[in-house]
Amino acid sequence: MRGIAISLLASVFICVTSSTSLAGVNEGKQVFLDKGCTNCHTVTAQGIESKKMMDAPDLSTVGTKHDGDFLLKFLRKKIDLNGKKHQKKFKGSKADFMKLQKWLLSLK
Ligand code: HEC
Repeated sequence: MRGIAISLLASVFICVTSSTSLAGVNEGKQVFLDKGCTNCHTVTAQGIESKKMMDAPDLSTVGTKHDGDFLLKFLRKKIDLNGKKHQKKFKGSKADFMKLQKWLLSLK
């Protein structure tokens, strides 16, 4: 009896944790849309169009190019990419940034 209860609990736990991490990723997509990243960037793999304010790279595979630490510094305009700072400084809470970062890193 006890074994069954424990394995039941374990599977409930796994379900809950995996669904919240997925939700976290989708929240990151929402931050991306809310913060005006689509003024310049497309993410064609996700069907995200841009307003083409500038010729910016498509971010469909950005998760294969950079790590989280780079994204944090680059999007806060602390470091350069190809000798330039990013066009737009990320303005928002740390919590929002973490969601955004998680989503960007999932784009592979
Ligand atoms: C005003 C236009 C503009 C906006 C708005 C903008 N970006 Fe960018 N972004 C660029 C340009 C241009 C580059 C290319 C920089 C370079 O290669 O020097 C770039 C590069 C990047 C890169 C690196 C891409 C690569 O292939 O290495 C990431 C990641 C990125 N942007 C994320 C974002 C996020 C997230 C937002 C929203 C918070 C955002 N950008 C908003 C113009 C913009």
